[in-house]
Amino acid sequence: MDSVSPKILDGKALAARIKEGLKKEVAQLTAEGLTPGLAVILVGEDPASQVYVRNKERACAELGINSWKHHLPADTSQEDLVQLVKRINADPEVHGILVQLPLPAQIKTEAVLDAIDPAKDVDGFHPVNLGLLAAGRPGIIPCTPAGVIELVKESGVEIAGKECVIVGRSNIVGKPLAFLFLQEHGTVTICHSRTRNLEEVCRRADILVVAAGRAGLVHGGMIKPGAVVIDVGINRTAEGRLTGDVDFASAVQQAGAITPVPGGVGPMTIAMLMKNTVTAARRTVQTLD
Ligand code: GUN
Repeated sequence: MDSVSPKILDGKALAARIKEGLKKEVAQLTAEGLTPGLAVILVGEDPASQVYVRNKERACAELGINSWKHHLPADTSQEDLVQLVKRINADPEVHGILVQLPLPAQIKTEAVLDAIDPAKDVDGFHPVNLGLLAAGRPGIIPCTPAGVIELVKESGVEIAGKECVIVGRSNIVGKPLAFLFLQEHGTVTICHSRTRNLEEVCRRADILVVAAGRAGLVHGGMIKPGAVVIDVGINRTAEGRLTGDVDFASAVQQAGAITPVPGGVGPMTIAMLMKNTVTAARRTVQTLD
């Protein structure tokens, strides 16, 4: 066992394969007169958000998906933002709407997310989509949790019957991911800042997903030998280097499969966003059949 080097789960390569398939699908849809379209709204000048938005636009261009960027000033009012969302809801060329988070303090995020047409909510953040997911009914699945499931499947480890431990309870990752693991018949535990004996709970995991937003929170001593470890964290070190929530150097000694940061979950989130956009475009014609 010790001599077997753990499998590095290459999210960049997996995302590239998924995008390759989507590119063909987009070409076919375009030939049929339906080019998928994504509108991205960015408010303010947050540097990380600007990078994410640029990557999303780039992926759209690569796949032949139409994209529109709406860059609004940091002092935009909630009312103006909601009005813009409603205008885009009514645009038949736009199949997906993404409002980049976080939003400036004067805007209530919930009010904006609630204004997005659930059929165009390609982030899967609208309460209707989260509710459908919780009920095990078809809707739009949030991109990062969907990407995590794909990475676990890529490891070759079956989810059914396994101990799946998620560190982090956000609406964007932890909570929706718990429902996805349940759908795959995993046994799910969600840990958070008030969890007692975090180390012990993590050591029970066959599949451990860390999405807490704290660099190096999980180390090798918290990992069951052979476990699948998925690191959702994106943190910047003092030197400006990207690093995850898992201490990779010690974790890689224990894990059976592990995602790197960067090059693990990040590229998968974008691939899943593209997939949700294509699916949303397809559904506009399917519902008319
Ligand atoms: N900010 C951080 N992650 C995300 C995401 O997945 N979607 C959006 N819209 N904003 C984010």
